[in-house]
Amino acid sequence: MEKILITGVAGFIGSHVARRFLQEGYEVIGIDDLSSGKRENVPQGVQFIQSDLARPNVLKLIPADCSRILHLAGQSSGEISFDDPVADLEKNVVSTLNLIRYGIENHIERMVYASSMSVYGAVADAPIAENHPCVPLSCYGVGKHAAEGYLRVYQNRLPSVALRMFNVYGPGQDLSNLRQGMVSIYLAQALATGKIEVKGSTERFRDLIYIDDIVEIWFRAATRPAVLGQILNAGTGIKTTVGELLERICGLIPGSSYYVQGATPGDQSGIYADTEKLIKYLGLSSFTPLEKGLEKFANWARQWSADIHPNPSRTS
Ligand SMILES: NC(=O)c1ccc[n+]([C@@H]2O[C@H](COP(=O)([O-])OP(=O)(O)OC[C@H]3O[C@@H](n4cnc5c(N)ncnc54)[C@H](O)[C@@H]3O)[C@@H](O)[C@H]2O)c1
Repeated sequence: MEKILITGVAGFIGSHVARRFLQEGYEVIGIDDLSSGKRENVPQGVQFIQSDLARPNVLKLIPADCSRILHLAGQSSGEISFDDPVADLEKNVVSTLNLIRYGIENHIERMVYASSMSVYGAVADAPIAENHPCVPLSCYGVGKHAAEGYLRVYQNRLPSVALRMFNVYGPGQDLSNLRQGMVSIYLAQALATGKIEVKGSTERFRDLIYIDDIVEIWFRAATRPAVLGQILNAGTGIKTTVGELLERICGLIPGSSYYVQGATPGDQSGIYADTEKLIKYLGLSSFTPLEKGLEKFANWARQWSADIHPNPSRTS
């Protein structure tokens, strides 16, 4: 049985990706420091190590015979990255460098990295391709771009793929964290109080990708040979305005409404992906329609809200 390492396995995307690899028959070693992830998210069957990847001695805890690294651990909010940029650097860059060292020392076949569309910064209203200049606006985006740079530097000793994920949403997203994840923040507020506070214009636009589609992208990026050395956008190529998203959420949660107040530091006004490379290398071109994805997420969130965590706390 092939053994792989998945970092951030107690988080939203990492736990879904781990579940898929277990289903495909892989042995999964999972690491997470539980700084934002939760132990109960770690799928049954994962051999779990609770540890902080920014500490170099963690490498001794990881079995040497993993074939691949799927690196999803990190601080995942642009807004939070401004609270403590040094902590963000440790979580997103130092952790990646430590894993690169582990990968080289153990002759790991490949590393797939969770990068972000935040690396691009302010862009025009047009599909953004991977060769677009990167001028990130947040400390988070700077860290993601730096991590990509280290992977490029060591590419000949540790082959890698970087996935620049756009806005991922779906069941399993942390509804108690109102500073991370646009769709989950709006949905959580709609369910908790019926009033959605929108930090920034409703004219902003995003590329929203459902979790099942992201899992498929990770599986293909981790297993297809031709993709090594590439940086790929992981988005749908479909532009959705914040206003449209809000209308859809308010339609799903009766009695909810929204109001605009303030702005999020380092926020991009609008971005969506050029998916040509994604189609070329991973062959993926059709995605879960927003309407369907949101409905599934809202059904899950209603259950979460009612049964498990009755009072999501508002931080803003
Ligand atoms: N969710 C999105 O829309 C999105 C978009 C682009 C990129 N990303 C990136 O994808 C990755 C996963 O995102 P997510 O939404 O699942 O976030 P998440 O916060 O749910 O998961 C990240 C996990 O990493 C763990 N972690 C953080 N620092 C760690 C460290 N030093 N050592 C070990 N574990 C650590 C956290 O406890 C958490 O479980 C992140 O790197 C994020 O930046 C996410």
